[in-house]
Amino acid sequence: MPQAMPSGVGYIYVVSAALFILSLKWMNSPATSRRGVFAGEIGMLLAIAGTFLAFNVHNWTWIAAAFFIGTAAGIPIAYIMPMTAVPQRTALSHACGALAAALVGTAEFYQRQPHAAAELRGFVMVALIIETLLGFLTFTGSLMAMGKLQEVLPQRPITYRNQNFVNFTLFGIAVALAVRLALVPTDTFLFPIFAVLALLFGVLLIIPIGGADMPTVIAILNSYAGLSACAMGFAMDNKLLIIAGALDGSSGLILSIIMCRAMNRSFLNVLFGAFGQIQTRAGHVEKRPVRTATAEEAASILEAAGSVIIVPGYGLAVAHAQHKLRELSDSLSRRGVDVKFAIHPVAGRMPGHMNVLLAEADVPYDRLFEMDEINSEFAQCDVALVIGANDVTNPAARNDKTSPIYGMPILEVDKARTVMVIKRSMSPGFAGIDNELYYMDKTLMLFGDAKAFVTEILKELPARVGA
Ligand code: TAP
Repeated sequence: MPQAMPSGVGYIYVVSAALFILSLKWMNSPATSRRGVFAGEIGMLLAIAGTFLAFNVHNWTWIAAAFFIGTAAGIPIAYIMPMTAVPQRTALSHACGALAAALVGTAEFYQRQPHAAAELRGFVMVALIIETLLGFLTFTGSLMAMGKLQEVLPQRPITYRNQNFVNFTLFGIAVALAVRLALVPTDTFLFPIFAVLALLFGVLLIIPIGGADMPTVIAILNSYAGLSACAMGFAMDNKLLIIAGALDGSSGLILSIIMCRAMNRSFLNVLFGAFGQIQTRAGHVEKRPVRTATAEEAASILEAAGSVIIVPGYGLAVAHAQHKLRELSDSLSRRGVDVKFAIHPVAGRMPGHMNVLLAEADVPYDRLFEMDEINSEFAQCDVALVIGANDVTNPAARNDKTSPIYGMPILEVDKARTVMVIKRSMSPGFAGIDNELYYMDKTLMLFGDAKAFVTEILKELPARVGA
């Protein structure tokens, strides 16, 4: 039963909520993101302290045990997980958060049974049901997403006939049980069936989605976890949970919309389009001739350029080439070359992937430019140096109406005077399609691992200064 809060707790909650809002605002820009993380941490600390003050804690041992287990697991995960594994780490966090919300909802449901007629009626029961439904399906859905990203589960979409019909029927049954429970909360035997259906739906929802779409799915699951926490706030009459859950839910939703727009794909296409199947075409590699260059030739072109725009992509993360790339950028800048970095909103495999990698390598923020800011500069730039990026530079998105990525906004590197592309082969990127950019007369392919090739170019540059 919710109890009256001591008055001071309300103030603590207001400060905590304000810090959560500021945290989101500050995390919007690389320059203020550290401050944003710090504000979020302080906000969470205040929220926990306020909650301890607000409620009579009956058993500190359980709380202490949970605190130590969580800390013991969280610290190594934060230190050990590489930057390329951040999407799956995020999925794991959502799974834990969603499970916590679902278990709290389950505990409340059973704990309030003796007074069900008074305490589990109407709005409270509806909130509890939403909390547990979203919590359980987000738990299994996030674990599936993590498994696909970590490649312990098959990456390709698993589809079968009438799949959407089966999924929606299952979901429909879960909702019907939810309605029954909301009307007759004493039907306790229905609750475990409802919970199992929600867990199963989480698995079935993710199976038909390709591994590379998982970051978008994780953002959607993030919003479900937030909405579950928000519903928990209503069920337990906790205003801070309502605010924090709503912030989490809406920011996850906004993020997934931004990602869908940047890929020119609809929400429904991501969830039900089995997009990764296109990758089966990846086996087919074009045989048309391309122009290639050595590290020595690339170094001399870069050195002679007045302006260079570097376009990083997923391959940069795979090769861990960000530090070498920063060295290259510094070296060119010292030679008087104007060096900028162009960041596509979905370059890589998670939002802000490139910003995080380049920040890790201490590339100054003022050298990073968003797609809309820099696209007009490609036409005046001497060299566009594409490193491990593919789809986000593919002119087919602009020119070929039959292309699966047609309409996706791209970095217009094909307008630069010279284009150099570092990648290991002619293999396609995530969308599984060929890139016309590679066959243009102005394009030089620099075949090799991104880190190894940039290292080679760097070796050539000092030699030239001495010459
Ligand atoms: P991709 O189109 O996936 O291309 C990456 C390229 O990197 C590949 O062509 C690969 O070619 C190359 N590569 C891989 N390892 C390399 C290495 N060690 N050294 C050098 N090159 C390497 O990447 P992108 O241009 O960044 O585009 C991102 C794609 O992911 C888009 O299609 C986007 O829609 C999708 N996506 C992004 C997100 C977010 S939020 N970022 C979410 C979902 C989907 P080789 O194999 O020949 O080397």
